[in-house]
Amino acid sequence: MTGFATRQLHAGERPDSGVTPRALPIYLTAGFVMDDFDHAVDHFSTGDGYSYTRVANPTTEAVEQRIADLEGGAEAVLVGSGQAAVAITLLGLVGAGQHIVSAAQIYEGTRGLLLDNLTRHGIETDFVDDANNPDAWEAAIRPETRVLFAESIPNPRNEVLDIEAVASVARRHGIPLVVDSTLATPYLVRPLEHGADVVIHSASKFFAGHGAVLGGVIVDNGAFDVTSTLFPHLTAPSRTGAPSFAQRLGGRARIGYLREVMGLRFGPTLSPFNAFLIGQGIETLSLRVERQSANALGVARWLAAQPEVHSVDYSGLDDNPYHALAQRYLPNGQGSVFSFTLRGGTAAAGAFIDALEVFTHMTHLGDVRSLILHLATTSHNQRSPEQLERAGIQAGSIRLSIGIEDLPDLLADLDRGLAAVRALSV
Ligand SMILES: Cc1ncc(COP(=O)(O)O)c(C=O)c1O
Repeated sequence: MTGFATRQLHAGERPDSGVTPRALPIYLTAGFVMDDFDHAVDHFSTGDGYSYTRVANPTTEAVEQRIADLEGGAEAVLVGSGQAAVAITLLGLVGAGQHIVSAAQIYEGTRGLLLDNLTRHGIETDFVDDANNPDAWEAAIRPETRVLFAESIPNPRNEVLDIEAVASVARRHGIPLVVDSTLATPYLVRPLEHGADVVIHSASKFFAGHGAVLGGVIVDNGAFDVTSTLFPHLTAPSRTGAPSFAQRLGGRARIGYLREVMGLRFGPTLSPFNAFLIGQGIETLSLRVERQSANALGVARWLAAQPEVHSVDYSGLDDNPYHALAQRYLPNGQGSVFSFTLRGGTAAAGAFIDALEVFTHMTHLGDVRSLILHLATTSHNQRSPEQLERAGIQAGSIRLSIGIEDLPDLLADLDRGLAAVRALSV
């Protein structure tokens, strides 16, 4: 090697891979060197090993395996955002002319995807208002339905999904129940243990916890029914005559398709660096979620006792309509994202939010810091007044995501907000 351009690329040793770092190493590389000709032939025929980070990366895989383990799933696939996880899961299961049934109370980004975007690709969605009524799901299912979709703790009102009730409907029809469990995390509830087939998370939220990266993950129970006739793209041989996903992967056909086709062809790859940061976050997940849930209960109880507050939507409160379900599904804590409603409408909400010093005003959740957002003018501003009312969101409704700060400091901050509300009416 003599030329400068050649040497600037190839001079020096390759790192010795014989060492074993205790922290997860970051393989921040687009691809991997093939040792020799036979290695390449072998990789392309068996899929074993690593070739290109969009296909597989050791850092990302290590975090995927940890998440699959925590959820009690067979396999997980990490992608670039929670929204990507939702989109590729649905597109990997439902095609043009087919149908989704979804709970009405879901994250606005997912609702928009279903209503505005999947419709363009010939996929329709019907929404179930009372997500805990199995008859309502049953009535919405059509012969073309391929997915039931819901959130374990729906964003933003801290309702609790009766996972087993919806899962039993899904099972009767041989349709997977996909649960977005972002607000719960596997520390609070593991939907696969209650009959769900697929779990999705925005890893940008509690998994990371630090609010520094975006990521999304799909976890599958590995129990795809290979005799099903509803998903020919999983059970029929490929265009080239190669064995079907079901023949090759058995119960893991669904997640294999999400990894090998939806991940690879649609390309929502997570950076290995972000996988590392999500992995770092997960190492303290239970500690954070436990503390955040305890803080949230303290905040909810305090708010419920204030005259300026009309209502508090937190299933940990004894008089909340979801309290019994919370005790059944969320005995370790009811999460830390919930809404409450001020009596004074939008003006009160504005004065309240602008007076806060500890809470951060932003559209994010699951962070170690406490966050606040007015719903009707931000995340839910595309909804009509009737739709807002149906969703239980009023002009004075505010979403909180409670962090790990000292509870007295959070209460003092909220008290500052209420003082600003009182000052409005003087
Ligand atoms: C319940 C839920 N699912 C999915 C998403 C989308 O995740 P991301 O922001 O990582 O794309 C969010 C984001 O707020 C969410 O709250």
